[in-house]
Amino acid sequence: MRKQIIVGNWKMFKTNSQAVEFVKNVDSQLGSNENLIAGIAAPAVMLSDMTKVAKNLVVAAENCYFEKEGAFTGEISIPMLQDINVSYVVIGHSERRDIFGETDEMINAKVKALLAANMTPILCCGESLEIYEAGTTMDHVKKQLSDDLNGVSAEDMTKVVIAYEPIWAIGTGKVATPEIAQEVCKGIRDHIASLYSQDVADQVLIQYGGSVKPDNIKDILGQSDIDGALVGGASLVEESYLGLVK
Ligand code: 13P
Repeated sequence: MRKQIIVGNWKMFKTNSQAVEFVKNVDSQLGSNENLIAGIAAPAVMLSDMTKVAKNLVVAAENCYFEKEGAFTGEISIPMLQDINVSYVVIGHSERRDIFGETDEMINAKVKALLAANMTPILCCGESLEIYEAGTTMDHVKKQLSDDLNGVSAEDMTKVVIAYEPIWAIGTGKVATPEIAQEVCKGIRDHIASLYSQDVADQVLIQYGGSVKPDNIKDILGQSDIDGALVGGASLVEESYLGLVK
């Protein structure tokens, strides 16, 4: 039985004090559930204070760099995150790929650096509207994953969380139907089986992301190859976040 993993991605929203208030309020209402990983990925500046008040919530970073230290102005290293007890990091979000020019090569280096540090990458993949309409979603996603996971061992692969996020469904209110999301997530699992083994593929947690809300999450999570969700807008309000994870 795979666990469920539901993670809010706050992107560039909230201040440190708002984030701490949110975690205090939500965490106390969550309770512990060993079958569910409930998390929030937030801007680096607020992670330290968030981890101090989180008991049940997993606090994740939205990005990191793959070098341990050095002259990389503006970047956040893995040891910096470990020092404040952050162990999950979102990697390769489509906004990082499209706005900040992250390549599969960089994403691959980040995934490997995180795994070497015993951290959990939440590796994002997904296609543009153009690719979706051309019917080549699976080719695109498979190529992304093959490149991003290049050199990752089978043992490490079981620790990677994959987030499938069709770009056309992010922040647009257009949610992929549960059937479309399931079809691609199954395709991702099959691809992992072909790269590794069915046993490895069966252990990997796969999330869907893109306009997930409290009122549609149940149908999405009801799909056999979808183990959770990566949620933007609907994770920003306490009541809505609780509606997603409860
Ligand atoms: P929305 O839930 O706002 O569509 O964002 C999805 C996303 O990008 C999560 O990483």
